Order: sequence, then C-alpha cells, then structure tokens
Amino acid sequence: MNERICLITGATSGIGKSTAFGLAESGYSVILLGRNEQKCKQVSEHIKKKTGNEKVKYYVADISLIKDVKKISGRIKNDFNRLDFLINNAGARFLNHQLTDEGIEITLATNHLGHFILTNELLPLLQNSDDPRIINISSGVHYGGKGVIKNITDPAAYDGRKQYSDSKLANVLFTYELAERLKENNVKTFVVDPGGVATNFSRNNGLKFWLKHLVYYLLKRQLISPKKASRTIIYLATSDEVKNLTAKFYYEMKEKKSADISYDKSLQKSLWEMSEELIRKIN
Ligand SMILES: NC(=O)c1ccc[n+]([C@@H]2O[C@H](COP(=O)([O-])OP(=O)(O)OC[C@H]3O[C@@H](n4cnc5c(N)ncnc54)[C@H](OP(=O)(O)O)[C@@H]3O)[C@@H](O)[C@H]2O)c1
Repeated sequence: MNERICLITGATSGIGKSTAFGLAESGYSVILLGRNEQKCKQVSEHIKKKTGNEKVKYYVADISLIKDVKKISGRIKNDFNRLDFLINNAGARFLNHQLTDEGIEITLATNHLGHFILTNELLPLLQNSDDPRIINISSGVHYGGKGVIKNITDPAAYDGRKQYSDSKLANVLFTYELAERLKENNVKTFVVDPGGVATNFSRNNGLKFWLKHLVYYLLKRQLISPKKASRTIIYLATSDEVKNLTAKFYYEMKEKKSADISYDKSLQKSLWEMSEELIRKIN
C-alpha cells in the first residue's frame, strides 16, 4: 500500500487525467481538482473502476478565480493534514482577450495566478510531508516568453500567443523562485515541458485552432499521447533519483536548460511581487 497523497489540477482531461490515472494505478491517494463537477465525478469513478484504487477524491474549483481557489484550499486543509506532491497542471490558451469576474486577464489567472495561490495556501500541508514535491507544467513555448506576464486589461493590447508564452515562462520563473523561498523547508520544485500532446488543449478556441495545434506537432512527428507525457511528471513526483534535486526543468524524462531569461533572479522576484499585489487588490 502506498500512503503518499498527491493533488493534480486540471485532472479532468489530457495530461492531468493521465497523470492521475498513472498515480492511482501505483496505489497513491489522488486528489483531483477540476472546475466541472460532472467531469470530476466521471473521471474519479473511471479511475477507481479501472485501477481498483478507491483512494481517489475530487474538489471543484475554477483555478482562474482567486476566491474559489482560496475557498477550496481551506476545504482541502480541513480534510487533509498532509500532501506529498502538488502537480500544477491546469492550463489553457486564449485566442481572444477575456477578463475574469475578478478583473484578471484569463491566461494569467488560469495558467499562473490560481496556481500561485493554491501552492502558497497548501504549503502547510506539503511541509508535513517527509519528501514534498511541487511539479509545475510549463511548455516549450516558454522559450519565446519575453518577461513577467502582465495583467492586460485593454483588449487592443492583447496578443494571445505572446500572453500564453509569458504565462508558460511564469511557470518556470515561479518554480525557481519557489525553490529559493523554500530552500530551508525541504520542499522540492520541478517544471516540465510535456511536449506536443494530443489532448483537448486549445479546443476552447474552436475546432480550427485545436486541429492546427495537433497538426503542427503531427507534421513535426512530435505528437505524443497524454500517457507518454505523464511519464516525466510521474517520474519527478515519485522517483528517488530526483529526491535531492530542486529548481529543475525537465523534458522527456531528462533535465534540460530552460530559457536564459528564466534564470533572471530579478524577474523571478518581480513575478512573485506582482502576483501578491494582484491578490491584495482582489481581497
Ligand atoms: N497539449 C499540449 O501540446 C501541451 C504542450 C505544452 C504544454 N501543455 C500544458 O499542459 C497542461 C495540460 O494541458 P492539456 O494538454 O492536458 O490540455 P487539456 O486536455 O485541455 O486539459 C486542461 C485541463 O485544465 C483544466 N482547466 C482549464 N481551465 C481551468 C480552470 N479555469 N479551472 C480549473 N481547471 C481548468 C481543464 O478542465 P476541463 O476538463 O473542465 O476543460 C482540463 O482538465 C497545460 O498547462 C498546458 O499549458 C500542453
């Protein structure tokens, strides 16, 4: 029996769902976080039935909403006293400009800010583990990121491609800053480029853009299954080989150098401060 407990965001589809399945198959306690109650129920029932692991639970929250994330974190802290790994995976690309009800540009809110809050809120649980690990899911497009992601409120200033790249760079900057801030606490942090994966990613932008995304990787012969993409994440969460590492970027099971800009300590710090400032304004 494996008593380790993991939480995965965006566990109702694609890479997150496959990762949850793989961890449940190995006997871990799995907490799914999703925004759609029906999907969460279906996925958790499916995982339980196929793996025979009954330790699968779900919580419903929209990761793009600060108040939702804080509320759900409170419930998780009430129900659990320890978390061994946190996998920050939920993410999306938005072709058109949108603001959340809290006034945050939706790419920033979904891909970075929600996970920034979730991670900070759940740190007390992670610190109760003897080998806590946080794994953030970034992308190869972070290499095109230009700096600290901005809360773009003017639709005319919005470029969906650029904002997505900056959000994925934010995942890397956050991973490194988190490692720095947690170096006394034994919490290890990793960030993963999953590659080009055949999932529902970009489907929110319509069939044409979803197919464009798939065909791009297909033509490069780089399109992989969610199961294959989940291997690196599961490896980083569970392997003893990486037990003593932190602040590392991984692609296809191997450590790799992330974008030069991601090692800029002043940007790492600025992203953290900007995130805190946005949260203060919402409260
Ligand atoms: N697919 C690729 O080629 C690729 C490449 C590089 C990086 N990535 C990264 O991989 C991660 C997973 O993406 P995927 O490819 O597995 O895509 P996916 O199949 O679309 O899954 C995305 C997951 O995130 C959830 N999600 C999105 N917005 C949310 C919100 N506001 N609140 C809560 N959950 C939300 C989705 O929930 P619903 O099921 O309710 O929609 C779904 O479970 C993302 O961070 C993405 O940036 C993907």
